[in-house]
Amino acid sequence: MSPHHQNGKKMKSKDKAKKLVIKACNQDSFGELVAFHKYSRNGLNSHLICKRVSELNDETRIWTFDLLKRNMQSMYIQSNWGWDEDKKKVEMTDANSWYLIAFNENENPIAYSHFQYDIDYGAAVLYCYELQLEPECQRKGMGRFMLQILELLAFKAGLEKVILTVFLHNPAARSFFRSVGYCIDETSPVSSIEEQFDYEILSKHNKRKNVGSNEN
Ligand SMILES: CC(C)(COP(=O)(O)OP(=O)(O)OC[C@H]1O[C@@H](n2cnc3c(N)ncnc32)[C@H](O)[C@@H]1OP(=O)(O)O)[C@@H](O)C(=O)NCCC(=O)NCCS
Repeated sequence: MSPHHQNGKKMKSKDKAKKLVIKACNQDSFGELVAFHKYSRNGLNSHLICKRVSELNDETRIWTFDLLKRNMQSMYIQSNWGWDEDKKKVEMTDANSWYLIAFNENENPIAYSHFQYDIDYGAAVLYCYELQLEPECQRKGMGRFMLQILELLAFKAGLEKVILTVFLHNPAARSFFRSVGYCIDETSPVSSIEEQFDYEILSKHNKRKNVGSNEN
């Protein structure tokens, strides 16, 4: 999820270099990460693919929404955003969307991340919109493994950070993201008497030099 899609406050950047980096990211580079095409630990024996939303078949696309609904609907209902199925479907099928998906040995999907390469408040980022695992696959290291892939894709390409939004009333996810090195991002909103926010924005920064130049 991303607050941009909730309140339509997307910032525009005129930084051409960063836009070129984003354009380059949209060429598939998961293929090169051969060591990350399989995950066989803690009873999981899965393989991963990374595709544009336009390349997903209907069955897989429907499953991504169904899993989101099973895992998250109650948290959205509890939030200021509420649960808006049509809006969520529009966000999940945005033409810039990429999906990292894990399948088990029976070719059933068990986990996915929906992400996009973007300019966010002037920074070239990989925005992780969703990280969703089937309940029986949670706490087996798969979430950590998938985030590692997103970080590799982002940092190899010279992006500044991997960024994501999490509800304050999702303590499990907040603990997870902190335990894998995510911190409050400078764009995370701060609640005041006038305005209360029920989400926070977390990020992990690229520690390599020359961020944005695509020449690490
Ligand atoms: C949150 C989620 C993505 C985490 O992925 P995961 O594969 O279950 O987590 P991992 O096994 O990789 O956990 C890595 C570490 O994070 C921490 N962690 C993970 N889940 C946690 C939980 N429920 N409570 C506290 N800490 C947790 C632990 O330190 C864990 O290491 P450990 O298992 O060795 O103790 C996954 O559980 C999920 O899909 N949850 C439901 C949907 C959701 O909330 N998504 C995030 C939306 S923003």
